[in-house]
Amino acid sequence: MTELLEKICGTAKDAGKIILEGSEKIRSLTVENKTGHGNFVTEYDSRVQTFLIDRLSKILPEAHFLGEENGIEVFKEEYSSGFTFVLDPIDGTTNFIKGWSESVTSIGLLKDGAPYIGVVYNPFSDWLYYGEKGQGAYLNGERIHTSEEPLENALTIIGTAPYYPELTDKCFVLGREAVRRSIDIRRGGSAATDLCRLASGQAGMFFELRLGLWDFAAASLILTEAGGEIMDIKGEPLKYNSASSVVALSKGVSRSQAAWVFDT
Ligand code: IPD
Ligand code: CA
Ligand code: CA
Repeated sequence: MTELLEKICGTAKDAGKIILEGSEKIRSLTVENKTGHGNFVTEYDSRVQTFLIDRLSKILPEAHFLGEENGIEVFKEEYSSGFTFVLDPIDGTTNFIKGWSESVTSIGLLKDGAPYIGVVYNPFSDWLYYGEKGQGAYLNGERIHTSEEPLENALTIIGTAPYYPELTDKCFVLGREAVRRSIDIRRGGSAATDLCRLASGQAGMFFELRLGLWDFAAASLILTEAGGEIMDIKGEPLKYNSASSVVALSKGVSRSQAAWVFDT
């Protein structure tokens, strides 16, 4: 592991301590609504993001920051050159508020607009996923690979794009198809975790009709380093400069097996 990756992993683990501290206080959390259906933010989302920026800017002073909270969520042109950290301080905020133990901190690092490092840490399970371009993907020190099973022998993880009610019908038409064509579906509530579960072979396919860049920037690198493929709903490469639909496949699930999910 390079020194840079090691420092980012350490930062994610320390961010996890703040998330765990918040999880002890879920009955007294300050929860506010954001734009969209069922879209919440807590004092801990902001607190973790502030912590991440503080630590990461010492590790890589020249880097730009894009994060889900505190008004730094708009992608600026200059983020496409040099280093840019893309942060989701708590991915799975609803899980966090409701006491489900599937919330992670997600740190993506783009280099010249393309994924370079990805770190996703779940402090509840102590699962640390990480990867660096060309160096493979790991879970707690063990190399991970996507599954080689065909779709009929695999699970499909779906994300419901909950903040966009106009996408619900389409999501469930595709979800019904996924139940028929794979073993079953799962819905975890943290897109970064969903992609990492795919990376470590727990599922064959993932889709969500709209995600923020911070939801997938880190985990997409981990997934591709584990042998998976990631694209948008048209089958086009992700652009890493905006929100997008996301379809991700394991080694065992070809685009033709997943043809039903794509907008053609
Ligand atoms: C959300 C989670 C969820 C996904 C949503 C995301 P948040 O992120 O990843 O699984 O369905 O689309 O926005 O708001 O908890 O950081
Ligand atoms: Ca998120
Ligand atoms: Ca979040």
